[in-house]
Amino acid sequence: MIRQEDVSIVLKDAETLQHTRKDYIEYHQELSSKAREISVLFQDKKVLDVTVPPGVFNPYGGIAAQAFMSGVLSGEIDVKGKKVVDLGCGCGVAGWCCVLKESEKVLFTDINPNVIALKDNPMLRPQDEVKVQDLCAGEEKDSYDVVLMGFPSRSIERTVDYTSYESGILRNDDLIFKTIDDVGRVLKPGGKFVFFYRVFNDRFPLYLEFTSKLAQYFDISSVKLLWYSYEATGHGLLLSVDKASL
Ligand SMILES: C[S@@+](CC[C@H](N)C(=O)[O-])C[C@H]1O[C@@H](n2cnc3c(N)ncnc32)[C@H](O)[C@@H]1O
Repeated sequence: MIRQEDVSIVLKDAETLQHTRKDYIEYHQELSSKAREISVLFQDKKVLDVTVPPGVFNPYGGIAAQAFMSGVLSGEIDVKGKKVVDLGCGCGVAGWCCVLKESEKVLFTDINPNVIALKDNPMLRPQDEVKVQDLCAGEEKDSYDVVLMGFPSRSIERTVDYTSYESGILRNDDLIFKTIDDVGRVLKPGGKFVFFYRVFNDRFPLYLEFTSKLAQYFDISSVKLLWYSYEATGHGLLLSVDKASL
């Protein structure tokens, strides 16, 4: 079982923050305004120290990264010996947990060019890669076993600035459909797509369209709700689904 409370993220200079998560946009703008050190604890033991590069989404105070990390570190999301894509990796916390759990390879990939600094992390193994690209544009068909993706949660119709904090929290809704096409292409048959998705009450129809798009590539009967969070305006869901094996 995934227990989100198994994982905590400690921010080194948390006491200096001016904003709280209640001002969601200003909070992320402030968090990403400079490089910041975070530590990740699993069941009260430190497992990771990570520098979040400037302009990159910082998972401190959020819920999705904790759900992914708890899933991987507990073994509920099985990555041992697997080729994993940490899609929309940000500072890579989910991917680093896959390294700790002896995945065969991790591709850290994000559209935000600032993630290239992940190459300097000493945890990166020779077989791992860090790439800046739109979704899985440069990856081959049927080449990965697991893809992890935490979608930016806020829908917006204007163009998103992908070089800044905006890329982590704002999305154009076609991102969701493009992601399913790309993940459906790069996963091996039977491979697993694990994703965090916020269903806002006023955008529920989008969730239904999303599910219907998933059915083009995935075995819908394999959908598993791994973790759930109630929020007044909607729900945060960590879901997994298997690519159909032909
Ligand atoms: C909510 S953040 C999650 C970051 C990280 N996975 C974590 O848990 O801290 C979403 C991430 O998706 C990335 N992203 C947004 N659009 C993308 C795209 N088209 N291709 C690749 N990454 C994208 C953002 O830059 C951001 O790093």
